[in-house]
Amino acid sequence: MIETKAPVAPERLAEAQSLLRRWDAQQTGFIRHRDLRFDSMVTVIRNICQNKKTRVLDLACGPGSLIELLLKSIPEIEIVGVDKDPLLIAIAHDVFGDDDRITLLEVDLDAPSWMDEISGEFDAVVSTTALHWLEPHILCRVYFEIADLIRPGGVFMNGDHLKYDGLSQSIFSEIAKQDDLDAQSASFDHGVDDWDQWWNVAEAVPAYSNAVAKRKEIWANKNNSTPKVTLGYHLETLRSAGFSQTGTVWQYLDDYVLAAFR
Ligand SMILES: C[S@@+](CC[C@H](N)C(=O)[O-])C[C@H]1O[C@@H](n2cnc3c(N)ncnc32)[C@H](O)[C@@H]1O
Repeated sequence: MIETKAPVAPERLAEAQSLLRRWDAQQTGFIRHRDLRFDSMVTVIRNICQNKKTRVLDLACGPGSLIELLLKSIPEIEIVGVDKDPLLIAIAHDVFGDDDRITLLEVDLDAPSWMDEISGEFDAVVSTTALHWLEPHILCRVYFEIADLIRPGGVFMNGDHLKYDGLSQSIFSEIAKQDDLDAQSASFDHGVDDWDQWWNVAEAVPAYSNAVAKRKEIWANKNNSTPKVTLGYHLETLRSAGFSQTGTVWQYLDDYVLAAFR
């Protein structure tokens, strides 16, 4: 667990912020309308919280892109960010280190004990571009678990690339795939880091050498990030887990923000 409120040295902060900016550019290369996805999530949270103090849990928060936007958009906020990757958490830690509103935890959602260090109720649980990494049975378990973490009237939102049904929606699937390739080449052929380039840059920062060694152990042979289930699976599972209303609040091709209200 990494949790500290000590100020971060200016050079280290600048390095972490630069990695976060490069991460955002790299992720936007994969997700053409990532900013709109994030905006729709902030709109929903603002609506259900109406300027009251807001508590949010970000599942698989990475280096903290959505956390940064939530902080800018909702000043009266407390955020818990969890992620399995020690390097991404270390970068987030440096970016937000002295901000009392943020708690960052190294947590593996695959582990049944992932909620051990998380307490209290949340107004919103969110996740972006991450839950497609989970195997369907783990995703199902996590959906049942987060239902108990969200207050009545609160919301869960997942912004992610989902899987079109390969048989009944093969045309949809091809269109989305081609659009992804076009978006990627528009970025990555013009100087934006691709996934491997970003990791090479981040892993070369000497201050993160311990986190890099740890992440190599953690991820050995374990990074199946292909989307595995359809929108229908997500919505049905969330309904079964006790959410009263489920649906989408934003969509571009196979890129969705789905929402489930308690
Ligand atoms: C593509 S990144 C997205 C990060 C961030 N949410 C964003 O939108 O920028 C996917 C994230 O999922 C995290 N992740 C994958 N499997 C995980 C698991 N089992 N438990 C926790 N985090 C996980 C990875 O470490 C990575 O940070």
